[in-house]
Formats: sequence, structure tokens, C-alpha cells
Amino acid sequence: MSEKIIHVKIFRFDPSVDKEHYYKDYEVPYIKGMSVMDVLDYIYQNIDGTLAYYDHAGCSLGICGRCVGRINGRSGLFCQTLATEEMQLDPLYKDRVLKDLVMKR
Ligand code: FES
Repeated sequence: MSEKIIHVKIFRFDPSVDKEHYYKDYEVPYIKGMSVMDVLDYIYQNIDGTLAYYDHAGCSLGICGRCVGRINGRSGLFCQTLATEEMQLDPLYKDRVLKDLVMKR
């Protein structure tokens, strides 16, 4: 049986080097019950350490609200939302981006 793969497209923008934002595609092995935050952690730890998102600074309990973003166009908490096979992840407000999925508060 072949392994299930999550295809995720992530908003990328580093204002110190990029003129405009772009999307980068990643493939992540699916584990039943994994959250969007788990997917981001996997990418950061195994594929692309340049990805910026709220990780260790957050509570992972749905309390602090730091991991809010858009998942397939709908706002939600990355730590509390289950990953799906096809996802697009964006910052909540693109005009407030510090880097990738991290926004000014
Ligand atoms: S990390 Fe605190 S709500 Fe998601």
C-alpha cells in the first residue's frame, strides 16, 4: 500500500529579498490526525528550514491565537485544524506579513 501524501501550497514572502510574494509547493507524508501545525513542523524540520511560522512561541492548544492564518481561504488556527490532502496556507492578512506566515501584531 502506498503512503498517503499531503500536497500543500504555502505563501512565501521575505521582504528583505523578495519583490513579491509567491507560493511554494511541498509534499508531506500524511499521518492520521495530524494538524496543519504538524505539517508546518514537518516541512520546517525535514524539507525547508527557511519557512517562517509561529511554532514554539505558540501554545498549540488553541488559546493564544498566534497561529491564526488562512487554510484553503478560510481563517483558522493551524494548531487546531486537521490537515487535508490538498491545502493552501496563507497569512491572515497579506499586507501585515513580516515573513511567510508570520504577521505584525
Ligand atoms: S499556537 Fe496558540 S492557538 Fe495555535
